[in-house]
Amino acid sequence: MSINKDIKRITTETLRLMKFENKKIAMLTSYDFTMAQMVDKGGIDAILVGDSASNVMAGHETTLPITLDQMIYHAQSVVRAAQRCLVVVDLPFGTYQSDPQKALDSAVRIMKESGAHAVKIEGGEEIKKSISKIVNAGIPVMGHLGLTPQSIYQFGTYKVRAKEKDEAQKLIEDARLLEELGCFAVVLEKIPADLAQKVTASIQIPTIGIGAGPHVDGQVLVVHDMLGMTFEFKPRFLRQYMNLHDEITAAVQKYVNDVKSQEFPNEKEQY
Ligand code: KIV
Repeated sequence: MSINKDIKRITTETLRLMKFENKKIAMLTSYDFTMAQMVDKGGIDAILVGDSASNVMAGHETTLPITLDQMIYHAQSVVRAAQRCLVVVDLPFGTYQSDPQKALDSAVRIMKESGAHAVKIEGGEEIKKSISKIVNAGIPVMGHLGLTPQSIYQFGTYKVRAKEKDEAQKLIEDARLLEELGCFAVVLEKIPADLAQKVTASIQIPTIGIGAGPHVDGQVLVVHDMLGMTFEFKPRFLRQYMNLHDEITAAVQKYVNDVKSQEFPNEKEQY
């Protein structure tokens, strides 16, 4: 798809200024061309090609199985559609934790092969060398703290994180570290609202919350969740703007009935 040069692209610098000017940042996930086109047209500031594609698109129980090649495929489809928004892509599990050079190689593949604008990476202190290596290569990095789904087997549950003092303190320190390392923003997932507020006030880079309350610089949701397509997933933080699961199922039922009763196609729907 050709790029419309009249549309001004949102950059990491735009997001930095939005925090400074107290303007909220709206972010959603997308994994394919058609959805990303609608999300971009809807005026979103940033699309996350999340590794939640592993759950939403592929039906896995966790985000762990998705591969770098699969993430690049999803990212390529989204980049073809996104005319205006910033496109951020998750580095999948196993592509950045073991050593910084591997982390950089993974990030470079995403940037070169998909044309995305930034990568996202889960964790703080324990992956600081990988973050530095990527940032120093000129690749914008978004951090991700709190509930980090790639660590689900260590956590053992998807419950709210950092309710206890020690974990909350580590999260504040990690957020400051991410800023120091040069991350341009940080996702705060499923943490108490007052902690998210404290983190947001203590760093200059934007915080993007999911289940982190209102006192953050922006919000992110999984697009299939907010459209009501993933019908069984209804955490407290999720606002469903549609019930597409029921609407699509009903439309399919109607189509099946129309085909079987020979009501479709009619005279106007043939050559
Ligand atoms: O993969 C994803 O969708 C995410 C969001 C939940 C922030 O990381």
